[in-house]
Amino acid sequence: MELSKKMQDALNEQIKEEIASAYIYLSMAAYCESINLGGFAKWMVNQSNEEMSHAMKFYNYIYDRGGRVVLEALDKPATEFGGPTDVFEKTLAHEQFITGRIHKLYAMASEEKDYASLGVLQWFVDEQVEEEKTAGDILEMLKMVGDKGQGLIMLDRQLAQRGG
Ligand code: FEO
Repeated sequence: MELSKKMQDALNEQIKEEIASAYIYLSMAAYCESINLGGFAKWMVNQSNEEMSHAMKFYNYIYDRGGRVVLEALDKPATEFGGPTDVFEKTLAHEQFITGRIHKLYAMASEEKDYASLGVLQWFVDEQVEEEKTAGDILEMLKMVGDKGQGLIMLDRQLAQRGG
């Protein structure tokens, strides 16, 4: 079954959102590095790389279905933040935004009875549960330890352990 034009356009839009996510998280990494939170920065670089892998999952899928990938312009990401708690509040809010978009794509694939797209999108539905949980857990820890002091240094060390 051929990928519909409507579904292809929506998936291309999602490639843009995933690459925009990578760009946003890389900008957050750069900010964290600038305030000497190397562990936070490393976590965000890994997060950024993961978003590029999400973009490539959609990219490859569009070609698996005989479609055409078309990239769109990205917005300039925020470069300054109010500290690590602010960074993770924005990370969680961004992941919730992405979850909403994935659910809309899922609903569209369901309407079109595009079962192959539903399969790929189910992976993303599950991934978003993880993404929100991870960002939410780190935000909760930040709310406990605050934006400076010993607790923050320990959390920075912990986040440095995230594998690529
Ligand atoms: Fe690609 Fe963080 O969702």
